[in-house]
Amino acid sequence: MVAALQAQRSGPAPVALVTGASRGIGRAIAEALAHRAHSVALVARRQDTVERAAQEIAERHGVATLGIAADLRQAPDCAAAVARCNAALGAPRILVHNAGTAPSARFEDNDDAVLEEALGLHVKASFRLLRAALPALRASGRGTVILMGSTAGLRGFPFTTAYCAAKHGMVGLARALAAEWARDRNLRVFVVCPGFVDTDITRDAARAVAAHGRKTVDEVLAAFAAQNRIGRLHRPDEVAAAVVRLIDARPPGTVLDLDSPDLDPANPQLEP
Ligand SMILES: NC(=O)c1ccc[n+]([C@@H]2O[C@H](COP(=O)([O-])OP(=O)(O)OC[C@H]3O[C@@H](n4cnc5c(N)ncnc54)[C@H](OP(=O)(O)O)[C@@H]3O)[C@@H](O)[C@H]2O)c1
Repeated sequence: MVAALQAQRSGPAPVALVTGASRGIGRAIAEALAHRAHSVALVARRQDTVERAAQEIAERHGVATLGIAADLRQAPDCAAAVARCNAALGAPRILVHNAGTAPSARFEDNDDAVLEEALGLHVKASFRLLRAALPALRASGRGTVILMGSTAGLRGFPFTTAYCAAKHGMVGLARALAAEWARDRNLRVFVVCPGFVDTDITRDAARAVAAHGRKTVDEVLAAFAAQNRIGRLHRPDEVAAAVVRLIDARPPGTVLDLDSPDLDPANPQLEP
């Protein structure tokens, strides 16, 4: 299902489509791109919140925005979201697939619904959005694809087997695309892998762990933060700043590990 158009102003700005943009990391990325004068299509399931986010960003940055309600676990919604962006704002030059959920469960409690949620939203939606947007990305001459991975796509964490498998799948997809597009100057792909970020996903996970254990929510959040090499939760705007640097500079490499001990934020070295 796609919401009504919320374009506020049109112009020759580059167009970005950002999924999971009603809050958290995606919202911060949409803000950062609007700040750099991009037109932005924001996608999420809830129509009211995604339209409000689009409206607020348009007003704050004076760019055209579009709020699209879509459930990206559904194949038709992926194609429809790209089609709405094309029709209302123009063909996207930037695709950021960031929408995500992080169900946590012991391995033996993962049923097919959990698997479908994780693989459908992170892996299958990546394929489907990319397939729909690829002609426009390539034709733009500077198409950039950002997949929102996770350190759970690079390492293993307990009680998140479906999520870890899906995030590893996104990293594999990005590496394979980078190899396939190695000679194509018109297309670049990156997968960005943050550690724990201060968003609803992290706070929901902390509440779930606290409900089943002896720690308070704050103690669980502190334990999450301690797993990040910087010793605190990342902020969404820090992840967004890294994404914008990739879009601007298109550095060599594919995988950006935001929790790497060697990371120089001003000059990040990407893994192949
Ligand atoms: N937070 C972390 O610690 C962390 C760390 C590493 C990676 N990540 C990744 O970063 C991405 C964003 O996470 P976040 O922390 O910003 O989460 P968040 O604050 O919970 O935001 C998730 C966004 O995705 C949307 N969404 C969820 N399911 C969707 C669906 N089926 N179709 C379309 N949109 C959907 C949500 O809106 P609706 O609910 O309205 O659909 C919302 O806009 C995810 O891919 C996550 O795996 C997060």
